Amino acid sequence: MSFLKVNNLKVYYPIRGGFFRRVVDHVKAVDDISFELKQGETYGLVGESGCGKTTTGRTIIGLNKSTSGEILFEGKDLTKLSRRDFHHHRQDIQMIFQDPYSSLNPRKRVLDIIAEPLRNFERLSPGEEKRKVEYYIEKVGLNPESIYKYPHEFSGGQRQRIGIARALTLNPKLIIADEPVSALDVSVQAQVLNFMQDIQKEFNLTYLFISHDLGIIQHMCDRIGIMYRGQFVEQGTSKEIYSNPQHIYTKRLISAIPDINPEKRVRQVELRQEINAEYKNSYEKYFNAEGKVYQLKQISDTHSVALP
Ligand SMILES: Nc1ncnc2c1ncn2[C@@H]1O[C@H](COP(=O)(O)OP(=O)(O)O)[C@@H](O)[C@H]1O
Ligand SMILES: [Mg+2]
Repeated sequence: MSFLKVNNLKVYYPIRGGFFRRVVDHVKAVDDISFELKQGETYGLVGESGCGKTTTGRTIIGLNKSTSGEILFEGKDLTKLSRRDFHHHRQDIQMIFQDPYSSLNPRKRVLDIIAEPLRNFERLSPGEEKRKVEYYIEKVGLNPESIYKYPHEFSGGQRQRIGIARALTLNPKLIIADEPVSALDVSVQAQVLNFMQDIQKEFNLTYLFISHDLGIIQHMCDRIGIMYRGQFVEQGTSKEIYSNPQHIYTKRLISAIPDINPEKRVRQVELRQEINAEYKNSYEKYFNAEGKVYQLKQISDTHSVALP
């Protein structure tokens, strides 16, 4: 049994128009994707803004409704569970949001922010609750006294740590991290990412790590799925994606990662030009008449590409 298996997931948003607010069309935010997560790994979902990454994450955790397809979590299809059964699974899957400034309620103390999920799922005495919150606040590297402060008293990196502490209190198995460091200063990003790797080991977490930044994805992920307009163009291990990309869209994303080594920059500019030329000249090889990508085809046990 797979830990998490997503089969042919589609999520369409209705577009309403006219006097009667009828549904006139749909945004196909996620349009038939399939992938699998093994327990303990970090799976990266990457692609440019608007390709459907957030929608995928929100649908897995139940914040969005799927249009069709299956989301099998430890064998149970989350899309078919009753509200009550879904509530039960909600403890096992938690989400860390992109913006630590707006995802924490500014009027609540850290104690109440972190305890909120506990109050929804467990009946603890105030003393037990406080001990548990202190345990997690220390795990994420903040002082126990922090629990009496308000979000505005913390920096962006510290706020993201508070968000992570809140996600940990129910002892989840899967954490969906949606651009967890994109709103942070570059100097703080690495700290938070390394910290996320530490707690992954300690708490045996599986991550679905969402980012538009391939450099970060490379640092964090065991396997990667590349999304383009609601579909997958390529899937493979980190190594396969970085050293042997097959789809032109993947190649373009990789060639756009800035190289910190100045000697390599000239070669990188050339490479970028070659790839842009290939993109213009061989468009039909990678995209069909409607501008959509093809179905994924397996090219090795772990690597698949959307080619005709
Ligand atoms: N609530 C919504 N209603 C209508 N369209 C939406 C909604 N949320 C997202 N979309 C659209 O769905 C597509 C995918 O969005 P999203 O999942 O946020 O992408 P990403 O996270 O990769 O940037 C985009 O075209 C976006 O405009
Ligand atoms: Mg997003």
